[in-house]
Amino acid sequence: MAFSLSSQVAAQKIVVAHRGASGYLPEHTLEAKAMAYAMGADYVEQDVVMTQDDALIVIHDITLDRTTDVASRFPGRARTDGHFYAIDFTLAEIRQLRVNEGVRARANSREAVYPSRFPVDASAFRINTLAEEIEMVQGLNRSTGRDVGIYPEIKSPEFHRAEGKDLSTAVIATLKQYGYTSKQDKVFVQTFSYEELKILHDEILPAAGVSLNLVQLVGSEAEYGWMFNAEGMATVARYADGFGPDKSLIIDEESTPDNLMISDLVELAHANGMQVHPYTFRLDAGQVPHYAENFEEMLEQFYFDAGVDGVFTDFPDRAVNFLRAHSRTTR
Ligand code: G3P
Ligand code: CA
Repeated sequence: MAFSLSSQVAAQKIVVAHRGASGYLPEHTLEAKAMAYAMGADYVEQDVVMTQDDALIVIHDITLDRTTDVASRFPGRARTDGHFYAIDFTLAEIRQLRVNEGVRARANSREAVYPSRFPVDASAFRINTLAEEIEMVQGLNRSTGRDVGIYPEIKSPEFHRAEGKDLSTAVIATLKQYGYTSKQDKVFVQTFSYEELKILHDEILPAAGVSLNLVQLVGSEAEYGWMFNAEGMATVARYADGFGPDKSLIIDEESTPDNLMISDLVELAHANGMQVHPYTFRLDAGQVPHYAENFEEMLEQFYFDAGVDGVFTDFPDRAVNFLRAHSRTTR
């Protein structure tokens, strides 16, 4: 059967499992990653941080406070700011921690950030290394015959450099070790740091003898606004293959169902050869913007009204099903 152009377009769009299927299981656990894989995600995301003994671990924060029991297991190991930094612990120590569903950032809080998600202290999860996670995705690729990608983020590169650690070089070395060497390989390396993006592009990738897809993540307009025009976007595109903005930068949060205010960021990025992968799509209470009636309508607005190429979502099954249904209905 011949497919229409729009069904082909839907088939090319991607779903990135944000911290795994983190809407259902504690973020960045192997369990959440396996679930995301089974749900049909195209890419599984890894936020990467370094330990005291230079191991690469998969965790969102540079501190262990929000997602582990570090405060009760290692009392007295916080810095003077009251936080427990992963970089102050060895991998062997980090292995002793239990991972929990994210809690609020108050001292000794066990209050879930998202109350309807997995119970905070249930079951037994642990922090994994980047290598372990890659081996799981690649192992599943072999056992299922699929080709799911990885999407590692260099977390707080300036913090790591100030602590005497070159996180980017270590991540790229691990990727190379596992066979990710060219832009055809299914990996996007992402960072919020424009300075680090340039170092990756100009120094670290050439030194490693690899050429990988790089993504510039973008937060507030205050910090990244210089990129939001033709000249700025062309500058970013000298280094990046993808652009990953907060989704509010693509569709204004003040939009209404009758008046969707779509910025020109997707157009600008596409004109400069970059894919656009906004974050983060959630369906917890209060997380679907008012201009959308529900999660799926929000996906429709981003994938097809704004024209993004992929989304980061905590609920990869919903985005996968949405794109599959779109492919069927537009045949
Ligand atoms: O990396 C894309 C998205 O994950 C950015 O937000 O804070 O969840 O890493 P964050
Ligand atoms: Ca991330």
